[in-house]
Amino acid sequence: MLEVSNLNVFYDEFHVLQDVSMHVAEDEAVALIGANGHGKSTLMKAICGLIPIRSGDVTFQGERLNGLAVSEIVKQGLVYVAEDRRLFPDMTVRENLDLGAYLPHARKRKGENLNLVFELYPQLKERQGQIARTLSGGEAQMLALARGLMSAARFMAIDEPSFGLAPNLVQNMLRTIARINGAGITVLLVEENIAQLETFIDRVYFLEEGKTSYEGPLQALEQRRTGDKA
Ligand SMILES: Nc1ncnc2c1ncn2[C@@H]1O[C@H](COP(=O)(O)OP(=O)(O)O)[C@@H](O)[C@H]1O
Ligand SMILES: [Mg+2]
Repeated sequence: MLEVSNLNVFYDEFHVLQDVSMHVAEDEAVALIGANGHGKSTLMKAICGLIPIRSGDVTFQGERLNGLAVSEIVKQGLVYVAEDRRLFPDMTVRENLDLGAYLPHARKRKGENLNLVFELYPQLKERQGQIARTLSGGEAQMLALARGLMSAARFMAIDEPSFGLAPNLVQNMLRTIARINGAGITVLLVEENIAQLETFIDRVYFLEEGKTSYEGPLQALEQRRTGDKA
């Protein structure tokens, strides 16, 4: 579904992503793991068209995405959910959801996607009239994911969804992402709590200094890292 090949991204002269190649198959849930500052967010943003690509290719369903406007990329079904959530704080839950579906292709499927959102997150249905600013951290993250669903996402790049959440809420958050994946949406996830990913992640990439240094099952990565320490 998604193919990234020999991707190079710079911030001015700083060469952040160096020949990164990776892929995500349809319906897969893949995690992107690595220490802070090693390029995980940059890779997700480059895939979703939010920062320019110096060289290399991003293709989605066989179509080249490099150079397309973000709205064109969203129209193909790729959605980036930022770690800071980017909600409209003074609008209601429902207004935030409606804004997720503002592009014509998503507006056409609004009813269908709203049903999906309320099925996955009944809390949001109950809280439709609530001002977004007054939601708890966990609910705000849920709304950010739900807004992605409203834009008719087929592929969601979800950046550190547990960021700022109390530890006891992390498991529940990851479960809601597993449900999104279960609903047929392909997921690329950046997550620090890797011990809790095992239940639903198919594969992981380990990003080190802007290069992928490992690709495969999570367990083997964990064994390798523990082995390094021993
Ligand atoms: N807008 C930016 N301008 C300049 N440098 C940036 C910018 N965003 C990130 N960086 C730098 O690029 C590197 C990778 O950042 P990032 O992709 O955010 O890493 P991660 O998500 O893995 O923590 C870091 O060294 C960071 O400081
Ligand atoms: Mg990041």
